[in-house]
Formats: sequence, C-alpha cells, structure tokens
Amino acid sequence: MNAFYDATKSYEENYDHGPFGLFADPSFVVEIKKKSSLSFLGFAVDLPFGIPAGPLLNSRFMIAAWRAGFCVNTYKTVRSEVYPCHPFPNVIPVKSSTNDIHPQETVIGLPPTNDIDVEKEGVTNSFGVPSKPPEVWQQDVRLAIDHMSLGRICILSFMGLKKESMSRDEYIKDFVNTYRLSQETGAQIYEVNLSCPNFGSEGLICHDLQMSSDVLEALHGAKKNTPLLVKIGYFPYDRQDDLEALLDRIHTFADGVVAINTIPAVVLDEYGNQALPGSPVRRVSGICGVAIKWAGLETVERIVSVKQKHGWRDFVVVGVGGVVSPDDYIAYMKRGVDAVQSAVGAMWRPTLADEIQRMI
Ligand SMILES: Cc1cc2nc3c(=O)[nH]c(=O)nc-3n(C[C@H](O)[C@H](O)[C@H](O)COP(=O)(O)O)c2cc1C
Repeated sequence: MNAFYDATKSYEENYDHGPFGLFADPSFVVEIKKKSSLSFLGFAVDLPFGIPAGPLLNSRFMIAAWRAGFCVNTYKTVRSEVYPCHPFPNVIPVKSSTNDIHPQETVIGLPPTNDIDVEKEGVTNSFGVPSKPPEVWQQDVRLAIDHMSLGRICILSFMGLKKESMSRDEYIKDFVNTYRLSQETGAQIYEVNLSCPNFGSEGLICHDLQMSSDVLEALHGAKKNTPLLVKIGYFPYDRQDDLEALLDRIHTFADGVVAINTIPAVVLDEYGNQALPGSPVRRVSGICGVAIKWAGLETVERIVSVKQKHGWRDFVVVGVGGVVSPDDYIAYMKRGVDAVQSAVGAMWRPTLADEIQRMI
C-alpha cells in the first residue's frame, strides 16, 4: 500500500501508528530542485505545493510530508478542547452518475478500501474535526516545527468549538481563544476554518457574511506578526455577490484565502440507507478529490478575478480541490494562485510532489 492514511483503519489507529505506505519509509526523501527562489507570504518555499488541513494528523505525518517534497503543509484543524472523531469508517469512495459531484447531489458510498484510483473516483471524508487537547497539539506542532527545514512551510488550522449552551458571542470568543493557543506554537502561518458549522442556523460560517465578518474582526484583534489565511467552501454562481463581499472582509482582516473545502452531498448505501454509521448528520458528507475539481478551479478563477479587479496585490490565494495529478497543479497555477494543495490526491499518490517537480 502506498497511501499514507489507511482508510481501512480507525482515525485513532492512524493517529497512533501512521503514517503508512511510502510516508512510513524514512528513505523516501524527495529533494526539490529549485529553478528559482520562491516565497509564500514572505517565507522561502521550494515548491508552492503541499497538503491542506486534514490528512496530516500529527507531527509524524507533517515531517513525512515535508520529507516527501510537499512544501506548503497544514497541520489538521485543532480546537480549544478535546473533541471526538465520528465512528469508523471516515474515508470511503463514492460513486455518482456523473464525474463531477455538485452540492446536495445524492451519491452511493462504497465500503472503505485503500484501493482507490484517485484520478477517477471521488471520495467522502467524515471525521467531525476531532481534536486532541491544546496541551497535546501545541507540543506536537512545536515538535513538527523543530524538524522543518528551510523551504518548507507549516500552517496551523484552527476553528471555534460550538456547544449547545453557548451564545453567538461565546462561540466567537472560542475562535479567538483557539487562535491565541495556536499562536503559542510558533507556526509560520495560521488558517481559520470558516467552512465549518455556523452558530444557530444550519449552514457554514463562510456563507453568513455577518458571522464571518464578526469572527474575522475578532481574530484581527488577536493577530500577532504572523499571516492569517481563511479557509472557505464553494459558493454557487448565484451567490457571487456574497463571495465578493466575503473576500472584501477577508482582505480587510486577514492575508489571504484557501479555497475550497469539501462539497456536501447525500451519501447513501446501495439500499438507500445512510452509508456512514451513527448520527443522522452523517447522511450529508463532504465530497473531495477528483469529483470536486470543477468547483475548486472555478472558485479560484472567480477569486483571482476579484483580486485583480480590486488590485489586492498582496492577497494570497491557495487553490485546493481535486488536485490528483501534475496537470491539475499546473491548471491551478495557470489560474493565478500563489500555492496549490492536495488532500485526497496526496493521500493516495504520495509521490505527487516529486511528480510535479519533474514535470515543471
Ligand atoms: C481526510 C481528510 C480530512 C480533512 N479534514 C479537514 C480539516 O480538519 N479541516 C479542513 O479545513 N479541511 C479538512 N479537509 C478538507 C481538505 O482540506 C480539502 O479542502 C478537501 O479535501 C478538498 O481537497 P481534495 O479534493 O484535494 O481532497 C479534510 C479532507 C480529507 C480528505
């Protein structure tokens, strides 16, 4: 098996014993042969490519990813308190009547396997953003950074923890508290996950301009000398005005945007039952991989055109979604992004950074 995350094992087994496959082999070292000196948000970077928030569960995964030539890597989203993972399975392939999967479409979820052709099959992931307690992840991020070399980047992703009893203000305060805890690690860059559930009503924070604006303004007040990125989800074309208004807020309070997170779809088994066990919230699950490439490419094109329209020269755009081959990396870069990240593609194709550097 080449995959560095074993989809047939629980999250805890992956956390405790991973990474697997090529990432477990210390002799798998990819030297990036730089053709020019590049920088990302002021930091030297050998290749503006890496792995977004999620698949790199802890320092062992981060160190293995840097060693494998993935340079711009994000430590998985952390919270202000310990938080459990959804039950196994957490990553399964999905089948759809079309290659591209669209928001709220119904797809068939298949049994977990490590035998996935990421160039053809989409995947759904459903973890519920588990987190270790802050003292554990803080120490672990520091450990990762101690092993990072020049030309590699560590981004730490975080989000607020929404509790039943909380007010909207308390939820925002938890974002700020988690940001403060995150900044104690000394990571180079932070990333707030706004593609997570909103307070009160259904939906994502990034789809609620007022809430996004309030969270970002509060974070701005706690911002130190390090850049802050904002992870957002897909916006359908009929919400272009909302996307532009959100980007304006991000430009005011942060340094750039990471787009996109997964696309929500209804995932059923072949008998029409909820495919992922446990809570009914898992009936709708985030699709990632090749099936959402259309949405990632479309989104960054729209973001880059807003950036150009306003002349936001320093505003950073990171393209994510369906990058499963070197051609996909090139397609994103051609759209004017500053860096590209791949989650599902990298998980099943751990040679991807090496393949990209050989092609460009
Ligand atoms: C195993 C896995 C775990 C993920 N966990 C997170 C997470 O904790 N925070 C986050 O912002 N995105 C998370 N994501 C979403 C990815 O960062 C990315 O936005 C999405 O998978 C689309 O990229 P892809 O098509 O390259 O997979 C996760 C994705 C995967 C596959």
